[in-house]
Amino acid sequence: MRLPSLAVAASLLVSFTPAIEACTFQHDDFPTVISARTPPIPSDILDKLSPKLSPSAKIIFPSSPLWSNASQRWNELSRPTYSAIIEVSTERDISESVKYANKHNIPFFAFSQGHGSYYGLERFQDGIGISLSSLSRKIELDSSGKWATIGGGMRSKDVIDYLWKRGKQTPTGGCGCVGVIGPMLGGGHNWIQGQVGLMADQVLGFRVVLANGEVVSVDDKTNKDLFWAMRGAGHNFGIVSEAKYKVYDVKEPKWSVETFTFRSSRLEDVYTYANKKLNGKGDPRLLMWGTWFLNPAIDEKPVIQFQWIYNGPLAELKKLSKDTHALKADAYTSMEVDYPELSPSLGYGAEQYACQTDGRGNRLLRGIDVDQYDVKSLRKWYDAFAATVMTEPTFQTSFCILEGYSTQAVQAVPDKSTAYALRGERLLLAPAIFWQKGNATLDEKARKWSKEMYLAASGSAKKKSYVNYAHGDEPVEALYGYEPWRLEKLRKVKKQYDPQGKFGFFNPINPATQGHRDM
Ligand SMILES: Cc1cc2nc3c(=O)[nH]c(=O)nc-3n(C[C@H](O)[C@H](O)[C@H](O)COP(=O)(O)OP(=O)(O)OC[C@H]3O[C@@H](n4cnc5c(N)ncnc54)[C@H](O)[C@@H]3O)c2cc1C
Ligand SMILES: *[C@@H]1O[C@H](CO)[C@@H](O)[C@H](O)[C@H]1NC(C)=O
Ligand SMILES: *[C@@H]1O[C@H](CO)[C@@H](O)[C@H](O)[C@H]1NC(C)=O
Repeated sequence: MRLPSLAVAASLLVSFTPAIEACTFQHDDFPTVISARTPPIPSDILDKLSPKLSPSAKIIFPSSPLWSNASQRWNELSRPTYSAIIEVSTERDISESVKYANKHNIPFFAFSQGHGSYYGLERFQDGIGISLSSLSRKIELDSSGKWATIGGGMRSKDVIDYLWKRGKQTPTGGCGCVGVIGPMLGGGHNWIQGQVGLMADQVLGFRVVLANGEVVSVDDKTNKDLFWAMRGAGHNFGIVSEAKYKVYDVKEPKWSVETFTFRSSRLEDVYTYANKKLNGKGDPRLLMWGTWFLNPAIDEKPVIQFQWIYNGPLAELKKLSKDTHALKADAYTSMEVDYPELSPSLGYGAEQYACQTDGRGNRLLRGIDVDQYDVKSLRKWYDAFAATVMTEPTFQTSFCILEGYSTQAVQAVPDKSTAYALRGERLLLAPAIFWQKGNATLDEKARKWSKEMYLAASGSAKKKSYVNYAHGDEPVEALYGYEPWRLEKLRKVKKQYDPQGKFGFFNPINPATQGHRDM
């Protein structure tokens, strides 16, 4: 069994009502929305800006038939709003768009595949959206076969498919629908990270449009500190037009998955066992995955699904998982697929429910990074999840993920060498709430529920949250590191490259300053 199926999702969409509700954020501990009014877009934007853009760039307004597709996001709640979207297709287009926005003192916000769900994004109101998705076709394998140039708007699935045809692979997001650069800038978890490291660890260099529109190269020789900062806190510093990115020969095309499904009463057994297997010295090709979701065929309470995901043949995996079979799961399945089929076979394909961006959905994602399973906290989290998912039909396709990526190659990279601050954590716990937009009562309920699950799952450990899963009410140190030197260094680099805080809308490193809407 996999993630909630389309059949369940479809039953939700039937009751969808396109009511428009104001979505002002009401969390007590969330920084207040800064209410500087955005100046209107000059009416001569087409005359003034278009001639500076490449012929294939588009300036799209809300009245355009292209608008809904251009503006829709994976999560529609607390989303940014635009008065125009510029669909760029070259690096120069990005630079000209930034200069234009600056000249008219209009905030700008660059996005790629639209999956970022950080709740502070609603602070971006009526500015200029810079859509990078037309850069998405741009990928080119270097003749050395060791790296590829990847465009700033590239989608995970397109990178996987392009490279696969050439006998290559590289770290990308697990879900085919997400951007490549977005995850990369925050670290970038991926199926092969135990073997080759985070997405950020593959970057040989970036081409970056800075806050003032200037274009620079960023690597370990040029703009070195910026290179450090952009691998972990990258959303704060510039717009990546392309990245020079390591790729690898496919040595083992096969991936195997064993899925063990348990009833809720087995939670303690499963995670006590799982903790013993989390020694960090195991096989870097072996990942431990967990999902909780409603599966009435097995239990009226959410089921606990425990999975081994392995880069190798099923027969090999079965040798590694003998003692898991001894736990006597309530249901069991297994499969063996080629790498491009791995995500779809787990329910994470580009067109599948968990990935979909159709403009109708509110989603609330959180991330809690921990070193091991705290069984008592998991039980609390599970009970909080079960209580609401079982009683509120609107939320029935919500699920919780317990991501146990392998970490060997991630931890082999020196901790101080990039801004990514969570190399020590081995697990990413992620409640994901799905519901239809248009009902403020439900929105509030989802927020309360999400916070309840976050607090339960965090337990007593120092809070840490993967920046690309962060909600926005976590301490800034939870995202960027508790060692004081980390934030000091990030803020120093910020001052140098973005003194006015133009890039302050996605998980800002300066949540306290109120410069250019920089929280
Ligand atoms: C279904 C789903 C699956 C996911 N799977 C994974 C996963 O496997 N691994 C993982 O690590 N994370 C994963 N994530 C989290 C993911 O890293 C973030 O959602 C990320 O922001 C998605 O990038 P995007 O281009 O789709 O989103 P967008 O909303 O377009 O981008 C998010 C932010 O990234 C920045 N950004 C994007 N592109 C650029 C660029 N070229 N230059 C500068 N800034 C840029 C912008 O600040 C933007 O606000 C997943 C999220 C979802 C919803
Ligand atoms: C919608 O936008 C995406 C990029 O975000 C693009 O790939 C797709 O072709 C567009 N679809 C339509 C119908 O215009
Ligand atoms: C919103 O959701 C609540 C809770 O399920 C429900 O009672 C209410 O009728 C819904 N309101 C609308 C307008 O659909």
